Order: sequence, then C-alpha cells, then structure tokens
Amino acid sequence: MLKLTRHPQWVREFRTAVGPIEERIVNCRFFAEMANGTLSMKRFRAGLLYFYPLIESFPQYMGLTLALVPRGSQPANHLAREWLITNINIERKHTVWFRQWALDFGVSREAFAGPVLPPPEIDAVNHYLWRITSQGTLAEALAAVNYGIEGPSGMWTKRAKKDIKTYARHKGVKIRKGTLLWLDAHAAYDDRHPDEALELIKKFAQTKEAQEKVTQAARRSMEYYALAADAIYDLF
Ligand SMILES: [Fe+2]
Repeated sequence: MLKLTRHPQWVREFRTAVGPIEERIVNCRFFAEMANGTLSMKRFRAGLLYFYPLIESFPQYMGLTLALVPRGSQPANHLAREWLITNINIERKHTVWFRQWALDFGVSREAFAGPVLPPPEIDAVNHYLWRITSQGTLAEALAAVNYGIEGPSGMWTKRAKKDIKTYARHKGVKIRKGTLLWLDAHAAYDDRHPDEALELIKKFAQTKEAQEKVTQAARRSMEYYALAADAIYDLF
C-alpha cells in the first residue's frame, strides 16, 4: 500500500488552486439535486447514461498512463507501475457496477448495446483525458485522471449516498443488492484513490514547471467535469 506523506508547500498551493473547481462540481445543480433527492429521473438517467463513457474508459486512461511510467526499476517507477496495475483492475469492476446502477435506475438495456455517444460538451472531458494520457507527462495524467476525476467523485458521492434510497419511489427504479456498489465504493471514507494518486504525483513532479503543469491538468479535467454535469442538467 502506498504510504501517505506530509504535503510540501507546492501541494498545499495546488489544493488551494483546485479547491474552488471541486466545490463547483459538488455544488452544481446536477449533483446538488441528486444529493437532496429532487433530481428529476429524466436528468438522473441522462447522467447515468452519458457519464458511462467516462467510467468505461477509465481503465484505458490508466493503461495509457501506465505506458508513461519511465523505464527502470527505481522505487518510484516500481510503485507507480504497481499502483496503476492494481487500480486498473479495480476500475474494471467499477464499470460493471456503474452500468448496474444505471440499469436499476431505469436506463434501458438497449442504450448500452452499442457505444454511448454523449453530446459534445459532455464528451469533452473524455477527449481531454485521452489527450493528456497519450500526450502528457505521467504526473499530468495522474493529476487529470486519478486526482481530477476521482477526487470530486469522492466528494459528491458522499453527499449523494445519504438519501439515495428515496429514489426508489420513482417508477422504474429498483434498489437491490448490487445497485449501489459503485456509489458506495466511491463514497467510502477509506477510498484512498485520489490521495494515493497525489503521492505519486509528488514523486514525479519535481520541478516548478512540472508542478505548474500538474495544477493546470487537474484544474482542466475538473473544469470539463463541471461542464459535463451542467450540460446534462441543461438537456431538459
Ligand atoms: Fe472508480
């Protein structure tokens, strides 16, 4: 398991820089209404469908990130490789769990029969993550994918989890064993994914320039995340 260490000054600044965008995601209408039980099922289902490509591609983004780990078995390289491989395997399960959530909340099975194609402003986050994981540095990729997406996800899921069962009142929604596995996994207080990613980022972003790029990458991916959530809300 990856050991968490005290943050240096630049990481404290990094967290201050991304904080407002994290807040924007968590407090956007889509996630705020989901948390207080008032999100319409139309919007809820659109979210479950159109966020699916992000979830589905997550192990692939991490596979591309794995290819960015430098050669050689120095401890940091070894650690990054091991962490990515282990977590790719975990994320693979998350895809199945997320689809189950969508199906149990009334998204039709046919919607998943072929590739899901969200409107462009919702899909933009995916394009950015493909780009940064194929053309960025290892630290940028970790910042965009594992910190920028999993960080805010941990925050909104914690709030959404509390009253999620109230959605069972809607026609076409069933909550059974397995429905909420994805939500529960990301809302867990011991989900160390973003913190561990930050530890790896600290090992690989050693120069001021690299640290600025990391901050930019995390911010950008969060901005696209917020854009996607707003766009889903505005569909109806
Ligand atoms: Fe996940």
